[in-house]
Amino acid sequence: MSKTISILHDKGGVAKTTTSINLGTALWLMGKKVLMIDADKQCNLTMILDRTAISEHPDGTLYEWMRREQDTPPIYTRYEGLDFIPSCRQMAGLENELVNKKARERILSRLLDSVDVTGEKVRDEYDFIIIDCGPGCDTMVNTNALLASDGIIVPMFPESLSLHGVPTIRQAVKEINEELDGNVEIIGYLLTRYNSTKRLHKDIMHECQNIDIMGGPLLPIKIRECVRCAESVANEMSLFEYESTSTAADDYMRLAEYLCGVTKRNKKFTPEVWGKKANDAHEQLINERNEQ
Ligand SMILES: Nc1ncnc2c1ncn2[C@@H]1O[C@H](COP(=O)(O)OP(=O)(O)OP(=O)(O)O)[C@@H](O)[C@H]1O
Ligand SMILES: [Mg+2]
Repeated sequence: MSKTISILHDKGGVAKTTTSINLGTALWLMGKKVLMIDADKQCNLTMILDRTAISEHPDGTLYEWMRREQDTPPIYTRYEGLDFIPSCRQMAGLENELVNKKARERILSRLLDSVDVTGEKVRDEYDFIIIDCGPGCDTMVNTNALLASDGIIVPMFPESLSLHGVPTIRQAVKEINEELDGNVEIIGYLLTRYNSTKRLHKDIMHECQNIDIMGGPLLPIKIRECVRCAESVANEMSLFEYESTSTAADDYMRLAEYLCGVTKRNKKFTPEVWGKKANDAHEQLINERNEQ
């Protein structure tokens, strides 16, 4: 069964895009069919996956899909089994353009449930759909993302400012479920850029374990602080193509395994093995782009 997960936080710059690209790629490396959706007007995920999709977008973007509610989803393929829907700068104006639309909070949900040429719902063609949200909980695009999702993952840096956004996130989820008849759960809070030698990080981790404050669980996996996160993105790759043996790559793989219910990693599934799969696919992609 397909699972749709929004990566959401009220705050900007807390590793939403880093989590989207690396979790999506990790799930794909595990053999899952994955669709990543860039729902942020900053287009950061699109820039990593294929920056030409922003300016050329021959098959459209999320903006046009939601605005026109066309039949054909603007799905691009990064690697076989790892697809994405790009964002574009016009996303910034989508909010105003949707004002007169009927049930405008549910456009994305309707589109993912629509049947495409294969006779299947778009949603059902994937094991996982990962939506990279822009900052904020109350934008129309993020309300659409929440209503289209089964759950959210909330990445957080271990700083007290990240905790300030928690009541807003809880309120947004409550409103979606109680007032808009949604069915979204907080899958969990994900501590990222974590450094176990820092006292503050440990203190914040303990605070995050208080479910009364958080309204959802702290995920048992923490993403360690890792300079490769920024470097890989600068090179338009996930951690898995860039440095599959990095600590954060291992953490994101453990997160993917957690979501798939895998409790013990197969001994043959090593960073070298998944790094090879990622590198081979990336090399093929670059060759294809060079030929065009
Ligand atoms: N585990 C990590 N270790 C070190 N740096 C990290 C880690 N995760 C993310 N970062 C860095 O934090 C910064 C913000 O990350 P990212 O762009 O993913 O945040 P975001 O929440 O998507 O931001 P925005 O709200 O602008 O979309 C980036 O420079 C990224 O490289
Ligand atoms: Mg982002």
